[in-house]
Amino acid sequence: MENDSKIMVVGKNGMVGSGIIRCLKSGSYTNIIGIGRKECNLTNQGAVASLFNEYKPDYVLLAAAKVGGIVANATYPAQFLYENMMIQNNVINSAYENNVKKLLFLGSTCIYPRLAPQPLKEESLLTSSLEPTNEAYALAKITGLKMCEFYSKQYKCNFISCMPTNLYGTGDNFHPENSHVIPGLLLRFHNAVKTGAQSVTCWGTGKPKREFMFINDLAEALVFLMNHYDKPEFVNVGTGEDITIKELVDLIAKITSFKGKIEWDTSKPDGTPRKVTNVAKLNNLGWKHKTSLEDGLRVTYNWFLENESNIRK
Ligand SMILES: NC(=O)c1ccc[n+]([C@@H]2O[C@H](COP(=O)([O-])OP(=O)(O)OC[C@H]3O[C@@H](n4cnc5c(N)ncnc54)[C@H](OP(=O)(O)O)[C@@H]3O)[C@@H](O)[C@H]2O)c1
Repeated sequence: MENDSKIMVVGKNGMVGSGIIRCLKSGSYTNIIGIGRKECNLTNQGAVASLFNEYKPDYVLLAAAKVGGIVANATYPAQFLYENMMIQNNVINSAYENNVKKLLFLGSTCIYPRLAPQPLKEESLLTSSLEPTNEAYALAKITGLKMCEFYSKQYKCNFISCMPTNLYGTGDNFHPENSHVIPGLLLRFHNAVKTGAQSVTCWGTGKPKREFMFINDLAEALVFLMNHYDKPEFVNVGTGEDITIKELVDLIAKITSFKGKIEWDTSKPDGTPRKVTNVAKLNNLGWKHKTSLEDGLRVTYNWFLENESNIRK
């Protein structure tokens, strides 16, 4: 991408979309077109066609999707399948029809088979059954990955995809029921400190291991792939490092200055014992994450404190 290329970031208000825009701006890209829901309802084929016709972007990063936690995925599978397939079908096909030079689509490591061997390798996709709670989301996303692959093969487009791990950071969703583990824990420990609670109870044993990537690192990796990767097969994007939930909770207690007791409700399920991506392919391309979990958590918590009144909660 040249500094003055027309770069369209679709999903500009989301955690990933806003992270990409920050990263592009800091990299001196000057012609960035951010698209949010106000500019276009991406499930509407005609609206997306008009959008591309109007802007004629050179490059597209597709970071809009219907995303949610386990409860939302399990409760609204029809919407997760329909909206995600419409968004990606409309954007990817319009990019093809408007001769976009390169497009990047995002999958997610949660769409690998439920029992895929750890660390997760790219080859594991579609080798066995999906996790039933997010099957609709996974099916839509797998179709998006395949659509980029097939458009690249049949139409010779340069449409690439990646598979990001669990993300956290600036712009995250702090909703008490719908958030991911890091913003959920930050909010609970923050509230415990605020109310003077003596203890916080966490689910399970704390033993499962998970991987987390800071949004600024993800955004940098996506821009790197836009500039250095041109193959139809997707690439994992993660840190390749995992920590136990107990270690994560201890870090969050430290960062939020919680001095009380941490209790574990072992009657609650632990989930899968380990989830981490194999990032050999990305590392071999020449990119590695930079931000330690502790540093990323501090930035995230400071952002939360500065924006507490108008944050997504
Ligand atoms: N967060 C993670 O841990 C994670 C991990 C792996 C992969 N990813 C992938 O990263 C991408 C972005 O995720 P995110 O975490 O940034 O989610 P997010 O914060 O919820 O952002 C998604 C954005 O898409 C927009 N959007 C949804 N439906 C739309 C529609 N019909 N028309 C226009 N805009 C629409 C949303 O707009 P509104 O705000 O108006 O609804 C929102 O701004 C997704 O493809 C996701 O699969 C995320």
